[in-house]
Amino acid sequence: HDFNNLLMVIRSCVSFVAGDLPHGDPRREELEVALDAVDRAAGLTQHLVAFGGRQPRQVAQHDVGRVAQELADSLRHAIGDRHTLRVSASAEATPAQIDRDQLEQVLVGLVENAREAMPDGGTVDVDVRAVTLADPLRRGGQTVGAGDYVRVSVQDHGHGMAPENLERAFEPFFTTRVEHGGRGLGLSSAYGIVRQSGGAMTLESQMRHGSCVKIYLPRAIPDREGVAPEAEPLLGARVLVVDDDRHTQRLVTDALRKRGASVICERDGTAALRRLAAGEPVDLLLADLVMSGLSGREVVARARALRPDVASVVMSDYASFVDHLGGEILHKPFSRRALFDVAARALEQRGWARAS
Ligand SMILES: Nc1ncnc2c1ncn2[C@@H]1O[C@H](COP(=O)(O)OP(=O)(O)OP(=O)(O)O)[C@@H](O)[C@H]1O
Ligand SMILES: [Mg+2]
Repeated sequence: HDFNNLLMVIRSCVSFVAGDLPHGDPRREELEVALDAVDRAAGLTQHLVAFGGRQPRQVAQHDVGRVAQELADSLRHAIGDRHTLRVSASAEATPAQIDRDQLEQVLVGLVENAREAMPDGGTVDVDVRAVTLADPLRRGGQTVGAGDYVRVSVQDHGHGMAPENLERAFEPFFTTRVEHGGRGLGLSSAYGIVRQSGGAMTLESQMRHGSCVKIYLPRAIPDREGVAPEAEPLLGARVLVVDDDRHTQRLVTDALRKRGASVICERDGTAALRRLAAGEPVDLLLADLVMSGLSGREVVARARALRPDVASVVMSDYASFVDHLGGEILHKPFSRRALFDVAARALEQRGWARAS
């Protein structure tokens, strides 16, 4: 902090003097160089502080997979034409308690290293997933304790590292890239940040085959705090959607999943009824009225006989036609809001209680 203040003083004095000099004065150039050095020094301290684990942090719960996806969109532009950045994330949530800026700093540093290891181009693969280690893991000289983690791996197919360099890679200022402007701070500051977040980092590398850095962050329990119960009325509901139109099926499924429901789809009523008859756990049946084969009305009627415990909703653009069925009807075209409301109401009538 003090050091940065000193740099600030130097910076403002130098730019003050520079501003006084007439344009084209050669002394101006000297001062520009000085300013540039100050900026680089400021960047350096930031990395050093990160390595020492003393960076002021704003820790909150973040979904690491989502952060990686969002960051990738901006990195793709920066990475150039010869390199491809691929990001994959598990469907399962990947929440961790971490400072978002620091997480981004780590990811950028690792992607940069991966890219630099493939000077002729190639693909950098970033993968984020929820993993559970039943036993401690020993990799690349590091140990990761047993437990639930969010694992981020950054894989390249570049030149790899000689064993003697691999050993020293996490050391601050260790670099084999001096002539390319390497400062040896990417891995060391990433390591500092990960350790500060209670995590661990491993590095595996094979000469001429590539390297893989894996970060393990303690997986947080998904944060539901501050979310009003009404906002997630379908959390934990198991919904069976029957629709022969793939497009509607996708829309409905995506919307319900985003609200915390688990969804299974069938394209025809017979298959759906077979599931119900087999006793598959289902809380809500959502059937389209007009389908080839059994109509939604028949499906719902038979489902009620088979499984009175299952709530049902018919989706229809012919409102009057199904009115006499009683129960809930979803009129097409419907908004997401209407879908959630009708689904929640139908569930409630069956006495279904939201998971908490
Ligand atoms: N993916 C990788 N493949 C091969 N070597 C790597 C890889 N990542 C790191 N290294 C090696 O580890 C050294 C240290 O990496 P680090 O990111 O800490 O510093 P740097 O990349 O040299 O410089 P900086 O990141 O500060 O610009 C590198 O100089 C390089 O030799
Ligand atoms: Mg680096």
